[in-house]
Amino acid sequence: MASYVRRALVLCLSIVQVVSAQDYTEPYRPQYHFTPASNWMNDPNGLIYHNEIYHFFYQYNPGGSKWGAMSWGHATSTDLIHWEHQPVALQARGFPGNITEMYYSGSAVADVNNTSGFGTDGQIPIIAIYTSHYTVEQTLPSGKSVQPSQQGQSIAYSLDEGITWTTYDVGNPVIHEPPAEYADQILEFRDPAVFWHAPSSKWVAVVSLTKLHKLLIYTSDNLKEWEHVSEFGPVNAVGGMWECPSLFPLPLDGDEEEKWIAQIGLNPGGPPGTPGSGTQYVVGQFDGTTFTADPESVEQTNWVDYGPDFYAAITFGGMPVTDRVNLAWMNNWKYGEMIPTEPWRSAASIPRRLSLSTINDRATLVQEPILQEGKCWNKRRNKHWDSVPAGTTALNSTGKALDATLTFSKSESTEFGIIVQATSDLSEQTRVGYNFTTGQLFIDRTKSGDVGFDDSFAAVYYAPLTPKDGVVTMRVLVDWSSVEVFGGAGEVALTAQIFPSDDAVYTHLFSTDGSTSGVKLSVCPVESVWGTK
Ligand SMILES: *[C@@H]1O[C@H](CO)[C@@H](O)[C@H](O)[C@H]1NC(C)=O
Ligand SMILES: *[C@@H]1O[C@H](CO)[C@@H](O)[C@H](O)[C@H]1NC(C)=O
Ligand SMILES: *[C@@H]1O[C@H](CO)[C@@H](O)[C@H](O)[C@H]1NC(C)=O
Ligand SMILES: *[C@@H]1O[C@H](CO)[C@@H](O)[C@H](O)[C@H]1NC(C)=O
Ligand SMILES: *[C@@H]1O[C@H](CO)[C@@H](O)[C@H](O)[C@H]1NC(C)=O
Repeated sequence: MASYVRRALVLCLSIVQVVSAQDYTEPYRPQYHFTPASNWMNDPNGLIYHNEIYHFFYQYNPGGSKWGAMSWGHATSTDLIHWEHQPVALQARGFPGNITEMYYSGSAVADVNNTSGFGTDGQIPIIAIYTSHYTVEQTLPSGKSVQPSQQGQSIAYSLDEGITWTTYDVGNPVIHEPPAEYADQILEFRDPAVFWHAPSSKWVAVVSLTKLHKLLIYTSDNLKEWEHVSEFGPVNAVGGMWECPSLFPLPLDGDEEEKWIAQIGLNPGGPPGTPGSGTQYVVGQFDGTTFTADPESVEQTNWVDYGPDFYAAITFGGMPVTDRVNLAWMNNWKYGEMIPTEPWRSAASIPRRLSLSTINDRATLVQEPILQEGKCWNKRRNKHWDSVPAGTTALNSTGKALDATLTFSKSESTEFGIIVQATSDLSEQTRVGYNFTTGQLFIDRTKSGDVGFDDSFAAVYYAPLTPKDGVVTMRVLVDWSSVEVFGGAGEVALTAQIFPSDDAVYTHLFSTDGSTSGVKLSVCPVESVWGTK
């Protein structure tokens, strides 16, 4: 491509980005979930809370709305609700004409003690640790040679609060290759998650050997030199590649007892009945070098989310142990590049505060969504029915962005729940409910609108949920193109994208094969978080 054409193209792309950044009302545009103004996004990267700012980096294609030219996009927030777009943090090397290195997923840490020596003038460096994907054979400035498609772990640092970055070219990749016994895995070695382990005074990195379903654990004093100290896996779900791992502590039942959670992306091979990507977790112990799963956590797979659209989840660093927030890519590799949105593709899940509770004798992740409650109070509608009859009951609440909590008890019905984003004749609708026969929460998106872009999209997804004292509780977050459901106290979650018509704004209750008693509904519209700060 002639360079003037290339320049014109780049100029053109940046104009598109500026215009649509002020818009955010296109069909299917999420109103309170994060999306890039334009172009493709996938995994969250480098989530960190630093100097009272949440930084959200993400896999981003600066050149189009499908996967490619992988770079790190960047957004910041003071509340995890309103996001401000920032310049691309790490742009694929050689973009757009001659890409030699792409910046795949990874994490970020604040090096408060200057262990790396990257700090200057009292400025704490933020260090990003990411996978370098080398597109061509080359000898790097560090003198290290890499093969085409090789993956190694590299670092970059920022001295201006994450806005501009310097790659550590004299040393990268700092983890050049997997250990010798896994030398044949150099193309499948990625997604470093790094954290500071205070008891051992070391940095710890967890890196995935995707095809072998192993997590390699490394430690370091300075983020530049790393020692391989242990490995974990395979366990539980291994139906696809293991990617985007992370390891973090959580107190069990709010107690002193600290457990460690390994969270692992799996693609394909997600929850039963889903088409591709999923996220599992394992509860165990970590001593600074080795992660050991608790026996009861490997008796069956633990899914962070039972739906099809929750992948590559990682948590924010830089926060207290009791304040752990998880964020995922709300899409699926099976159809992610085909979803009918433009000029962007993919949203982030709602941020979810995590805790760990003993439920049915197992240490279980509990998730609580973080959204702008404050704006809702005066618009919240509470309604109570002694009995909701069989069939559908129209609700007065309409809208395409809702936060609804329903509680109910079993009576004669076999299923009960809420229909959201329905057209007036109900020909389009998404059902979110509970099946009393099977004890499962479900999202039925078979008639949710545009389902034709992929043959697996029109389906029903299930999560097991035990009623508490005979009462089922479910919280349903609806945005213009997604539904997230949290069952019980948040011990199960189900996330699914939907692409309904613009006039699919109606809401109903449904009760199948009989009436449902003791129904309480609390619902409020959720306002756009874009341009309303
Ligand atoms: C692409 O970049 C590499 C590394 O900078 C350089 O060696 C090569 O000549 C470039 N190729 C083209 C076609 O510009
Ligand atoms: C961090 O270490 C580097 C290298 O030793 C030094 O030049 C710099 O002054 C240090 N920065 C701070 C804030 O201590
Ligand atoms: C920084 O150093 C202090 C004092 O040695 C130590 O307690 C703390 O864990 C260190 N923190 C990090 C993030 O390096
Ligand atoms: C809908 O609103 C009307 C009028 O305010 C009210 O009488 C009715 O009970 C409401 N129905 C529901 C299901 O909330
Ligand atoms: C609820 O479970 C019953 C029994 O397995 C089944 O016939 C019915 O189709 C289920 N409903 C949904 C929505 O899956």
